[in-house]
Amino acid sequence: MAEINSKDVFNLRSTPQITGRFTVPGDKSISHRSIIFGAIAEGQTRVGGFLRSEDCLATLKIMQDLGVEIDDTGDEVLIDGVGLHGLRAPNGELDCGNAGTAMRLLSGLMAAQKFNSVLIGDESLSSRPMGRVIKPLTAMGAQIDSNGFKAPLKFSPVDGMNAMTYNSPIASAQVKSAVLIAGLYVDGQTSVSEPKKSRDHTETMLQGFGAEVQTNGLTVTVTGQPKLKGQNIQVPADISSAAFFMVLGLCHPNADFVIENVSINPTRDGVIKILQAMDGQLSLDNIRDQAGEPVADIRVQSSALKGIEIPHDLIPSAIDEFPVLFIAAALAKGETRLTGAEELRHKECDRITVMLDGLKLLGITCEELVDGAVIQGGQLGSGLVDGHGDHRCAMSFLLAGVLSQDRTISVRGCHNIGTSFPEFFELVQSLGIQVKQPVSVIAVDGPSGVGKGTISALLARELGWHLLDSGAIYRSLALKAMKVGVYADEESKLITLAENLNLNFSVDSKQGTQILLDDVVVNSELRSEACGVMASKVAPIPAVRTALMQRQKNFQKAPGLVADGRDMGTVVFKSAPLKVFLTANAEERAKRRHKQLQERGVDVKIRDLLEDIEARDYRDSTRKVAPLVPAKDAHVIDTSELSIDEVFAQIIELVEQFLNV
Ligand code: S3P
Repeated sequence: MAEINSKDVFNLRSTPQITGRFTVPGDKSISHRSIIFGAIAEGQTRVGGFLRSEDCLATLKIMQDLGVEIDDTGDEVLIDGVGLHGLRAPNGELDCGNAGTAMRLLSGLMAAQKFNSVLIGDESLSSRPMGRVIKPLTAMGAQIDSNGFKAPLKFSPVDGMNAMTYNSPIASAQVKSAVLIAGLYVDGQTSVSEPKKSRDHTETMLQGFGAEVQTNGLTVTVTGQPKLKGQNIQVPADISSAAFFMVLGLCHPNADFVIENVSINPTRDGVIKILQAMDGQLSLDNIRDQAGEPVADIRVQSSALKGIEIPHDLIPSAIDEFPVLFIAAALAKGETRLTGAEELRHKECDRITVMLDGLKLLGITCEELVDGAVIQGGQLGSGLVDGHGDHRCAMSFLLAGVLSQDRTISVRGCHNIGTSFPEFFELVQSLGIQVKQPVSVIAVDGPSGVGKGTISALLARELGWHLLDSGAIYRSLALKAMKVGVYADEESKLITLAENLNLNFSVDSKQGTQILLDDVVVNSELRSEACGVMASKVAPIPAVRTALMQRQKNFQKAPGLVADGRDMGTVVFKSAPLKVFLTANAEERAKRRHKQLQERGVDVKIRDLLEDIEARDYRDSTRKVAPLVPAKDAHVIDTSELSIDEVFAQIIELVEQFLNV
């Protein structure tokens, strides 16, 4: 099975105040380009402030695989450029990981090489549309095979490609860049026009490296076969990463801080304009030019945000910031409306659906549109939301946790945060925000004889997690009561016994879990029918349950817990991310119990067992405290017709979906 990543779920706690000055890591778009252009330039390129994120490191590794020497000194990344025609055939596939920018920009580069190459990516990247670059590059003469316009992309050398004028149907810097990069390798001029202006780092940087580039309104033209010369590049802080903290500060009741050295390139600053239109107090100081890119220090102060209709013109320059803007909208007064942003569905995940599903779960009223969303501002509640492995959705929800009323938003699917913001958790901690990793719990509930004990033990072993057999706790109390002569109707005596129960579990790799009552192993005594019957009589007493509750909660330890019982999902571990409720008809359970007892040499009649099971079901499901019912969010599995292996396989599938998305 796939590895279960228990580190994938996090939550952030509140902090009373956020002040000071800090910065965020380097710009992702500029970092990717600095490596690619440095590699195909002549001479050395030095890059300061390079973003060492998984995405940019994927690009760096690919350029090394193509024969370019790149050295990271810690301060700077040094690239020994090989010139436009100096790349070498790689030994294997070129892995872009999660990075759309790497795959699309490198498509332009690989299409023009005189050797074969294959670009691959992770599951998310392999499901994103690549037709948008394949089509124009093919029109230039490239030979690209794909999996239905998705990765892997296979490039074969062609005799020559031709210059072209391309009218892109979408405003995409990645498409524009792919065509312009291929245009470097052909004779003549290659132009790209787009419906709205997308980020312009490619044209700015290519010009800096010495290419002939003209921008005329929405059209950019590059002249082929330039001699690119190595440059010194200083990458400014990424406005897309700063955006998380802009929203955090504006929505926090007591914040006043400065984010330093942030890129405010006009093709990227939509988030500032949108937040200012929402009455956010953001001011730009110390505006200056840094190696061709405008940068500023941004002061962020607590504000009362209002909902707005987002102007279409600002969408391309804020395209990566909508996940966190949706959080701002959820906390603003009134309605925020976004249309014309269908492109959000083609990012690392479908950002419209994923963000709206999360907001709805947190109690925000919102409506999903084909090309956007309508969000009514309100208060964020609590819950476990899913970032679906999209770095920006995950970070947005995590910061929502700092801003929520009861501060208990857990976020799963955080495993890709390092693709753009490897220092995210360190930075939030430096602002006084605590980072917690809730220990995962899988609650397995169901009636007596359904097989939940066997399944839970198998599951705990498979995952390497702790196991709680909560029934054994009630049975131990019942056994103790029987031993000291306390009857099921002697409530106060039972409560005293429960409060003072000397019960321990010792885990032995050979013998499994040993249950010690008053320091004596009682495993087999606990399984007796008499003990089971007594347990179902003492278990309904509310004060008994309360007395044993904390003992059960204490089992929740890293890396995780499989909790088997009757009210695990409804009472003891109400916020467990995965709840399973097993059922089976009473006849089937009586048969299973009969077989079990026979194997142990105990002779009982099936009919007696059936009567007993039915009576116990009745008591368990009608008791006032914690009756045996599935939790609303439980997955109910009827095991009557299933083997243990089949039930186990179904649960493992759920575990994979829930804990490793
Ligand atoms: C990027 C362009 C944008 C953006 C992405 C980075 C780039 O994508 O969403 O994060 O560096 O060129 P599109 O070009 O697909 O809009």
